[in-house]
Amino acid sequence: MSFCEEWDVTYQQGSQMSVWPWSDLVSLVMRYARPLSKEFRVLELGCGAGANIRFFRELGVQYYGIEGSSHIVEQLKKRFPELENQLVAGDFTKELFFEGDFDLIVDRSSLTHNPTIDIRECLNMAFDKMKSGAKFIGIDWFSMEHSDRHKGRPVDDDYTYTDFSEGQFSGIGKVHFSDAEHLKDVFKRFNILHLEQKIYQRVIPKTELKFASWNLVAEKMS
Ligand SMILES: C[S@@+](CC[C@H](N)C(=O)[O-])C[C@H]1O[C@@H](n2cnc3c(N)ncnc32)[C@H](O)[C@@H]1O
Repeated sequence: MSFCEEWDVTYQQGSQMSVWPWSDLVSLVMRYARPLSKEFRVLELGCGAGANIRFFRELGVQYYGIEGSSHIVEQLKKRFPELENQLVAGDFTKELFFEGDFDLIVDRSSLTHNPTIDIRECLNMAFDKMKSGAKFIGIDWFSMEHSDRHKGRPVDDDYTYTDFSEGQFSGIGKVHFSDAEHLKDVFKRFNILHLEQKIYQRVIPKTELKFASWNLVAEKMS
């Protein structure tokens, strides 16, 4: 059985099959964590349909991924047989599974589908598995400013919502919405190097949706 049931169903239905690297992730990796050797070790939390795998394979680094949908992990192992032992179906808020420390941990919109207590637990484990000077790059952590937040109901804590009646988050379980102070708090063991909020409002075709999310780069200092 999959840990992330809603995501497993989503992938089995062929939805959310993002397979090209996310441009913000590419930009921030190249700016803050450009790999200098083939020994560079990267861990991706919630690799989903593998959008960022080809980017890291192209860089020639050692890539590891943890993902809650066992269905998509099986698909990924077929697409990337060389990563058979470096892709794990599991809950990254409970265990980080792999031996050894990492130079970079990335997460694009995955931790932001968990409640605060689990995010803190995962970031503590991540911190402990990072080399000194290693970076954590978080892309698209949803913002409190996102207009679809109001389509869900609060659950677990002040930042987490679920049961979205419609819109971008319908059918995918819990979504965590952050403000800058909350991010500074959950990343308090790290040195935050970069924090930006993206707010998009499409004009043509017109939509009422206000998309808002955070990108963050944090460093382990000791
Ligand atoms: C929005 S998708 C992002 C997928 C991928 N990072 C991307 O950007 O294309 C969120 C992913 O995080 C995974 N996820 C969320 N919480 C998780 C957890 N606690 N443990 C493992 N995977 C988790 C889900 O299964 C899903 O694949």
